[in-house]
Amino acid sequence: MTMLHLNAFLMGVGHHEAAWRLPESDPFAQTDVAHFTRLARIAERGKLDSLFLADSPVLWNSIGRRPAGTLEPTVLLTALAGATRHIGLIATASTTYNEPFNLARRFASLDHVSGGRAGWNIVTTAGVDAARNFNLDELPAHRDRYERAAEFLEVSLKLWDSWDDDAPLGDKDAGRWGDDSLLYPPRHVGRHFRVAGPLNVPRSPQGYPLLVQAGSSEDGKELAARYAEAVFTAQQTLAEAQGFYRDLKRRAAQFGRDPDSVKILPGIVPAVGATEAEARALEEELDRLIKPEYARAQLATTLRVAPEDLDLDKELPADLPSEDEIQGAKSRYTLIVTLARRERLTVRQLIGRLGGGRGHRTFAGTPEQVADAIEEWYRSGAADGFNIMPPVLPSGLETFVDQVVPILQRRGLFRTEYAGTTLRDHYGLPRPVNQSARRLAAASH
Ligand SMILES: Cc1cc2nc3c(=O)[nH]c(=O)nc-3n(C[C@H](O)[C@H](O)[C@H](O)COP(=O)(O)O)c2cc1C
Repeated sequence: MTMLHLNAFLMGVGHHEAAWRLPESDPFAQTDVAHFTRLARIAERGKLDSLFLADSPVLWNSIGRRPAGTLEPTVLLTALAGATRHIGLIATASTTYNEPFNLARRFASLDHVSGGRAGWNIVTTAGVDAARNFNLDELPAHRDRYERAAEFLEVSLKLWDSWDDDAPLGDKDAGRWGDDSLLYPPRHVGRHFRVAGPLNVPRSPQGYPLLVQAGSSEDGKELAARYAEAVFTAQQTLAEAQGFYRDLKRRAAQFGRDPDSVKILPGIVPAVGATEAEARALEEELDRLIKPEYARAQLATTLRVAPEDLDLDKELPADLPSEDEIQGAKSRYTLIVTLARRERLTVRQLIGRLGGGRGHRTFAGTPEQVADAIEEWYRSGAADGFNIMPPVLPSGLETFVDQVVPILQRRGLFRTEYAGTTLRDHYGLPRPVNQSARRLAAASH
C-alpha cells in the first residue's frame, strides 16, 4: 500500500512570525546547531521522510520584526547528517545566483556525507534585494529566471552523470585508481552556461540529490513537471489543492513521466491542542503577538503598493496589479490576493492569516482532527503527503510527532519504521540511471 510522505519544514523557532516572543522560545536559536540537531532527532523519531530548510541569499526586511539571519542550509545539513541516521535532508539553493558546477558539487558532497540523504529544493529566487547582492540592479524577469533554471538543471544532471558508477576502481594491485574511459565530461555550451566538466566528485549514493521544486506559477509548474521528484506548494482549499495536483500530474505525464514519480506536498501549519479550544487559544495568543506595522510593510512590498494604501481595518484596495505584472513570486501573490478577496478579509485579518504560515494552510485542532485533515486531502487526490510547518519549534514538532504521527500510523497511512536508507527510498523512488552511460551504451550497440 502506498503511504503518505511527511516532510518537516524547519524554520527557526517556528513558522508563526511571533513564535520567538513566546516565553518558551530562544530568540537566538536560528544560528544554534544544537537547536536544529534536536529538531532533526525529533523528526527522525517520528520516522518522517525528510526535513527541509528554506533559503534566500538576502537579508529580508527589518531585523526588528523577527529573528533574522540564517545559516547556509547545506552547511547546516552537513552538521545534521552527522547527528542523524535515516531522515532525508533537503536544502534550498537558487539557480539564479549560483553556478551549476558549484552547486552540483555541493549537493553531490552532501549526498556522500549523508550516505544518500540529500535533496535540493530548486528555486529561482524572487525579490530585487537578492539581485542587488549579485551585481544586478533589477530582478531578472520571471521567464528568464526559469529558462536559466532549466538549463542549470540540465548542466547539473550532466555533471552528476559525468562519473560512471564503476569509474572508481581502487585497484591497488594494478596501480590503477580509476578508469578514465568511464568519465563523461558534459562539454556543455548553452545560452547561460559553458561547462566542460567532469565533476570533481564521484557519483554519489543516490546518483544525485532528490530534486524538489517549490514555485507554483505556470513556469514553475512546467519546471516541476519536467524535473521534480517532490513538489512543495501552498494551497488554501481542498478544491484548489486538487486542481493543482491534477494539473501537475498531467503535465508530468506530458513529459513522458510516470505521474506517481512526482510527489506533491502542500504545506500545513498545525496548531495542536488537547481540545479544539486549546488549539485555537494557541493560535490567538500567537496572533496577538504580531506587530502589524512590520507585516503591513511586507504585504505592501508583495502587493506593490505603498504601506499607507493598506488600511489595517479595510479590505485590500481594488486596483492591484495582475499576476502578469508580477516578476517576483507570482503564485504566492495570486494566493494572497485570492484569499483576501474570497474571505473578504481586512488587512489586519489577512496579516493574521499570513503570520501563521505565509499563505500556507493553517489548521487548529486536536491530534485526531489534524490527522483527519491530513487524511482527507490525501484520500481525495489533493496530496501525496505534507510539508509539516509547526507554528512553534521545537514544541509544535514534538506534539506532531508524539500525538499526530501515531494516529496516522494506526490508520495505516504512515510508516512505523524506515524501510530503506536513502531519501529516494523514503519517497518510494528508484535510484536514477546514469543517462550518460545509458546513451553511450545505446550508441555502441
Ligand atoms: C514550501 C515552499 C517553500 C519555498 N521555499 C523557498 C525558498 O526557500 N526560497 C525561495 O526563493 N523560494 C521558495 N519558495 C518559492 C516561492 O514561494 C515562490 O513561489 C518562488 O520564489 C517564485 O516562484 P513562482 O513565481 O513560480 O511561484 C517556496 C515555496 C514553497 C511552496
